[in-house]
Amino acid sequence: MVSGGRLVLSFGEVRAALRLFRNVPLLRLWIPKLTDVVSALQLIICLEKLGVLGFTSMPRSLEEISSFLGGVKRTDLLQDIFETLKELKVFRVVDGKYVVNWWMVEKFFRLKAKHPALKPFNVTFQGVERMAYRAALTVLRGGKVDLTSPEIATIFYFQTHHPVFDIGRRALLDLGGGRSLKGKTILDVGCGFGAEPVTILNYLDFDCNLICIDFSSNVVDECMHTPVERIAGKPLPSPKLLMELENVSFITVDPSAERWPIPDESVDVAFTFSYLHRCDHPQRAIRECARILKRNGRFLLTTMIKKGEKLTVTDVAIRLFGGNRSYSRREIKEFLRNAGLEDVKIRFSFFVTARKS
Ligand SMILES: C[S@@+](CC[C@H](N)C(=O)[O-])C[C@H]1O[C@@H](n2cnc3c(N)ncnc32)[C@H](O)[C@@H]1O
Repeated sequence: MVSGGRLVLSFGEVRAALRLFRNVPLLRLWIPKLTDVVSALQLIICLEKLGVLGFTSMPRSLEEISSFLGGVKRTDLLQDIFETLKELKVFRVVDGKYVVNWWMVEKFFRLKAKHPALKPFNVTFQGVERMAYRAALTVLRGGKVDLTSPEIATIFYFQTHHPVFDIGRRALLDLGGGRSLKGKTILDVGCGFGAEPVTILNYLDFDCNLICIDFSSNVVDECMHTPVERIAGKPLPSPKLLMELENVSFITVDPSAERWPIPDESVDVAFTFSYLHRCDHPQRAIRECARILKRNGRFLLTTMIKKGEKLTVTDVAIRLFGGNRSYSRREIKEFLRNAGLEDVKIRFSFFVTARKS
């Protein structure tokens, strides 16, 4: 926040900044750059697994690459892969054909092996290497990937249980009011496989009313069966499941629904982490959060936010694994304004807080 020409940081902002700096060596690679490096590596691994890197040792046209892969219907997406990777010098163009730059591929693989900021993403890279490259091929062939298919769900599962996600969720809670959120009703949109509700509950010493929603019954079911071993720091005689806690409830929402089955102005906080860039209707999702929020309620969001409007390697990676895309600061502000949210603050290229008037 800038006040009288001076930079004044709130307690929550200082806490969030310390949490991020202390815990994640990611600031050695600034966050937007880190996101793009992770995305580029995902694309490179996919292309390697599909044999495309070897195939483009010689100059190849998009048509040649397309028929090498077989059955490609999304030539637009295939072209986006090559064009965004070309900007990162992974490919160059010779007479209108793509040729792989092996030295740049090696450079990315060296980064992956050595850079401390990339260590938390090893699970993502392994997921792409073992399974998700097949989902990418399905998408290129015009198919839809089911987000609960083993290829994608396995990556999500391990990713969302990784400490780096926990740090991000806690930083969002720091920015959105910290411990003052105790006793409130919180809507967790895109709650995932259970790690997120547990983080929120632990952060608030279990003193909140938590409504978990997700868009597939398999995910919600997994979430409901998450074991809790301690409550407010005290070990339980035997673990309880999230679904056994009185202050936690669950709703499965049809992803195409215009309206979620939750009453108007019924929650104090809407919390959504790493979901918006995946959903098909981001404006609708934010409007629903705003509708459900009480007056003066807080909206807390974490998603990938890009600097400009241009298609990025991160957008392409999100699409290739069945999601939608990232948004610019302008788009995010517009979504929130259209939904009637104000006091919009965007921090560290990921975290957004706002308030319903
Ligand atoms: C990366 S996970 C994050 C989960 C949770 N917020 C966390 O951090 O643990 C993405 C979430 O978005 C949901 N999701 C992904 N794609 C979706 C889509 N196209 N429509 C609706 N929900 C989607 C998934 O079910 C999943 O819960």
